[in-house]
Amino acid sequence: MVNYKDLGLVNTREMFKRAVAGGYAIPAFNFNTMEQMQAIVMAAVETKSPVIMQVSKGARNYANATILRYMAEGAVAYAKELGCEHPEIVLHLDHGDSFELCKDCIDMGFSSVMIDGSSLPYEDNIALTKKVVDYAHQYDVTVEAELGVLAGVEDEVVAEESHYTKPEEVIDFATRTGCDSLAISIGTSHGAYKFKPEQCTRDPKTGKLVPPPLAFDVLAEIEKKLPGFPIVLHGSSSVPQDEVDTINKFGGNLPDAVGIPEEQLRQASKSAVCKINIDSDSRLAMTAAIRQYLAEHPDHFDPRQYLKPARENMKKMYIHKIVNVLGSDGKLAE
Ligand code: G3H
Ligand code: 13P
Ligand code: ZN
Repeated sequence: MVNYKDLGLVNTREMFKRAVAGGYAIPAFNFNTMEQMQAIVMAAVETKSPVIMQVSKGARNYANATILRYMAEGAVAYAKELGCEHPEIVLHLDHGDSFELCKDCIDMGFSSVMIDGSSLPYEDNIALTKKVVDYAHQYDVTVEAELGVLAGVEDEVVAEESHYTKPEEVIDFATRTGCDSLAISIGTSHGAYKFKPEQCTRDPKTGKLVPPPLAFDVLAEIEKKLPGFPIVLHGSSSVPQDEVDTINKFGGNLPDAVGIPEEQLRQASKSAVCKINIDSDSRLAMTAAIRQYLAEHPDHFDPRQYLKPARENMKKMYIHKIVNVLGSDGKLAE
């Protein structure tokens, strides 16, 4: 059993309290590689922001769970080396799908876990979430739960009302599970294709898709039911069109990739939304930089040559999100 406190990590409790009160959101960036980890830490240190580094099941399969845990431990040491005396870094399991997986992460030093029972029947979601909470809280590990179904890329109708979190369920769910934060569904979704062209309008000048707005009325209803309770938004990449254009210019093919406009994420950050999940934008920033570099330097083959601009581009994106979208810069406790 490794306790996250011995690794210099923190849980989400205090930072969420401050974020809800202060009207900003903490960035939750997924990581799978050393370059992503370095870029996240550099961005958080330069902006003096708390940060959540999250690991998906896919990341565990790709990079190895133990390696990722040591990388997070390394992230704390790296932040200190970069001059941040008291970094606030959370190591979080993203979309945990079983009690066993959550327990495994808690036992190996994660400071926060998500148990995603959103696809289960309501009572089963409550039972599973409560089981994880009861275990996690023994070690002061915080737990994110999910209620409502985020639309998938393949879904017929992404923004259908029935996908949204039902505000009338949230009090019962939060009370009976004891979860520390709640991921809700208000129209965001995972990946780089968040809406189908037929759900959007098209900007006549650029030809780019303009997505429908998030369901801020549902968010407001949820906030009314659970005043001050930490709310989480998944699927919140904005799919920057300059990165998409670079990818397409240098041999990629991502037609009509579309995300959540940053203005709406800015608006959400001012509410009880205190954690915003971003993964796809990092993938796009990395891929755009690598494609461009390799196209412009066909004779280069040292990975350090193309991973360096990729890391720089991700860092730039993370800083932009922290400062211009989520507003978590300068929000460290000390
Ligand atoms: O929620 C999904 C995250 O973007 C992680 O994706 O399962 O492909 O690592 P992944
Ligand atoms: P994006 O695909 O929009 O980056 O969402 C990431 C996410 O929600 C991770 O849990
Ligand atoms: Zn997610």
